[in-house]
Amino acid sequence: MQSLLRLLQDGQFHSGEELGAAVGVSRAAIWKRLQALEAEFDLQIHKVRGRGYRLETPLSLLNGNLLSDSSPFAVTLLQQVDSTNAEALRHLASGAVPPFLIIAEQQTAGRGRRGRSWASPFGENLYYSLVLRVSGGMRQLEGLSLVVGLALLQTLRHAGIADAGLKWPNDLLVGGRKIAGILLELSGDPADVCHVVIGIGVNINMRVAPRSEVIGQPWTSMRQVLGSQVDRNRFIASLNAQLERYLQLHQAHGFASLREQWEDGHLWQERMVELAAGAQAVHGRVLGVDDTGALRLEVDGQEKVFSGGELSLRLHDDS
Ligand code: BTN
Repeated sequence: MQSLLRLLQDGQFHSGEELGAAVGVSRAAIWKRLQALEAEFDLQIHKVRGRGYRLETPLSLLNGNLLSDSSPFAVTLLQQVDSTNAEALRHLASGAVPPFLIIAEQQTAGRGRRGRSWASPFGENLYYSLVLRVSGGMRQLEGLSLVVGLALLQTLRHAGIADAGLKWPNDLLVGGRKIAGILLELSGDPADVCHVVIGIGVNINMRVAPRSEVIGQPWTSMRQVLGSQVDRNRFIASLNAQLERYLQLHQAHGFASLREQWEDGHLWQERMVELAAGAQAVHGRVLGVDDTGALRLEVDGQEKVFSGGELSLRLHDDS
């Protein structure tokens, strides 16, 4: 199945004869296989008499060899999984030794922050979970998700998305629309030795929302911003390099050493915001973040500090 898709990923016409010869089945059997691919991965394949078959939208498929060659972490590439974060936790439970990376072409139950789902169509975006061992207790976790955001920001900017910016705690936006998100999940005791799963989702080549899903917030993708398809293997190699660099800085010097750089990339510095925690809301002006990555807000003339994964920030209408 994968070899068929690999041939078709360029979006050009390929004859039944060519496809049949490449995968060693008859011309007649090819259409059946292509229909199975369409159903399994929610793809659109056009069949035109005399010309053959072509994918409606070209794909940049992931290549396990290229990914392993360019990765400082051991890589497992899956075609389809419920969630790369969930798979990473299962690998940990069955004794896999970090650091390691789980990447998938498609997630059927991608997880977002605050119990949301994460749209994860086949072959278009990035679904990436990096597992690290944390032995320095809470200190090593302080600001970690913000540092991951910073590494992702640099990767997006190097790829030409000059306007990308951060929204506390770790959303990546372009023009007010979400382009990437980060979900950290812990396993073990944070006060002792534990493991952290750093889940990263980036909208790379998505052009339309998947048919089966409504995305509950304004979104964009690298392809929409750049106007052309992005090579996902190269993007992942660049992300690996940025993460390796920023995680080392964080481990050696703590979040305090990256705080200013983070604030430079923060889109909502000085803006009036509403911070929501469940049904509660606080209004204030963004002062920045502290040395642990917590949000500093000026509320009624006083500085207050907020942290926690369940918090979410919105711009105040009149800011
Ligand atoms: C957010 O809500 O902003 C966080 C989204 C995180 C999505 C990524 S995709 C890879 C990893 N696996 C998941 O199930 N979620 C994260």
